[in-house]
Amino acid sequence: SVLIIDFGSQVTQLIARRIRETGVYSEIAPFQLADEAFKRLQPKAVIFSGGPGSVPQDGSPRAPEAVFASGVPILAICYGQQTLCHQLGGSVEGGHHREFGRADVEILKASPLFEGIWEVGGRYPVWMSHGDRVTRLPEGFEVIGTSPNAPCAIAVDETRKYYTTMFHPEVVHTADGARLLQNFVHKIAGMHSDWTMAAYRKEMVDKIREQVGDGKVICALSGGVDSSVAALLIHEAIGDQLTCILVDHGLMRQNEAADVTAMFRQHYNLSLKLVDASDRFIGALEGEADPETKRKTIGRLFIEVFEEEAKKLGGADFLAQGTLYPDVIESVSFSGGPSVTIKSHHNVGGLPERMNMQLVEPLRELFKDEVRALGRELGLPDSFIGRHPFPGPGLAIRCPGGITREKLDILRQADAIYLDEIRKAGLYDEIWQAFAVLLPVQTVGVMGDGRTYEFVCALRAVTSVDGMTADFYPYDMNFLGRAATRIINEVRGINRVVYDVTSKPPGTIEWE
Ligand code: XMP
Repeated sequence: SVLIIDFGSQVTQLIARRIRETGVYSEIAPFQLADEAFKRLQPKAVIFSGGPGSVPQDGSPRAPEAVFASGVPILAICYGQQTLCHQLGGSVEGGHHREFGRADVEILKASPLFEGIWEVGGRYPVWMSHGDRVTRLPEGFEVIGTSPNAPCAIAVDETRKYYTTMFHPEVVHTADGARLLQNFVHKIAGMHSDWTMAAYRKEMVDKIREQVGDGKVICALSGGVDSSVAALLIHEAIGDQLTCILVDHGLMRQNEAADVTAMFRQHYNLSLKLVDASDRFIGALEGEADPETKRKTIGRLFIEVFEEEAKKLGGADFLAQGTLYPDVIESVSFSGGPSVTIKSHHNVGGLPERMNMQLVEPLRELFKDEVRALGRELGLPDSFIGRHPFPGPGLAIRCPGGITREKLDILRQADAIYLDEIRKAGLYDEIWQAFAVLLPVQTVGVMGDGRTYEFVCALRAVTSVDGMTADFYPYDMNFLGRAATRIINEVRGINRVVYDVTSKPPGTIEWE
């Protein structure tokens, strides 16, 4: 296994993800607990993450001495590089402003770290974190890669198998980063690929059993991949101790609640209660136009409804959530600046304290595509796993401006036609997420011989790997024409269709 010592970087989970991709088991330990984790795990390699600290500052984090004493290979990234060099007798100079940026490293000397990827004399793009700098290397180290702003971009001690980089190999912007990490794990630390989703499933089932004991768990099932996979995993671990509740807030897609309930009842012997709370939600949202108020109202009502249902079941000790890693980082800010709420993501936050429940979040370390792989492993039908993500607040955030029942109905119809056309064209699986948005704008049109004055419908489709960045999908114009014609012809209330060509960033995927 690999132990990843977390010095507080926002992208530490990406390291874990890349290591999982190499087929090797890894665990992350915060630096304060790293000593204990190192002794327990006895890893074959250790990775030091980046972090917001500054090595010259008193009290800044350090790696446990036991790691150096053990002789295992180390890969130290960014802050990790600095603390490693400092702890082994080098010097680090502080006072630089830390920022991320692209840089080109020039390779000065061959290393097993670059085998099959980078050649001596070549320059390769990496994602650098400028900040403090190593000014004197510890004994035995040499610089084998450099860039104008980072003289010690790559410094290594091949004898001890200590590899340090000032850049982040774990982020996608470092083009060959994943292969570099793979070289470290396979070639340098000599580990083999033997870790799979099946192993992860087993490990999570054990962890859930250990956490829950004979307690009762309730789960808010939305029908999305995340909560479904979480529910199935927990069900596998504790069976009848789990009850799922599906709250229909009236903001779901066409037939959604019924389809999801049917799928679960048919394929799994899982206890699931469908609660129709649409009147309550739509009543409270009627006329509401502010995106944050919509999100907060939905969040609050969801908690109320869920709490009432949970009480009817006699309460529970744990609340299960399908929180994914991107949900965790999007709610914290990047690189230590003041926290900015881009969107208040809808989850059942607040409920655990109110009902004195603990959280069970078995997917907290995973990214969406990994959750899908785990779902496949758990036997979820492909059609279900491949479903596009759907936001908790549902159609409410695809209906900018005041919400009315009528608008929601119009949107639901347009959305169903759009998705139907996408499926017919065989594009569904190529697209990360596609949906219709109903604009609060009416425009003039002509149908038959008459003037129309109806709403504009925007179509959105994006490609993405993890939802954190996205590109708009480059449809063929004929496809867009077909979808637009059908929507205008079949949906009363829409007389114009437009296509959204905004990527994320600067846009977000949803409109609100
Ligand atoms: P944005 O709009 O932030 O969306 O680019 C990124 C992904 O997250 C989904 N999304 C949500 N999912 N609760 C969710 O469960 C929410 O409140 C929420 N808001 C956005 C969105 O559909 C996209 O897949």
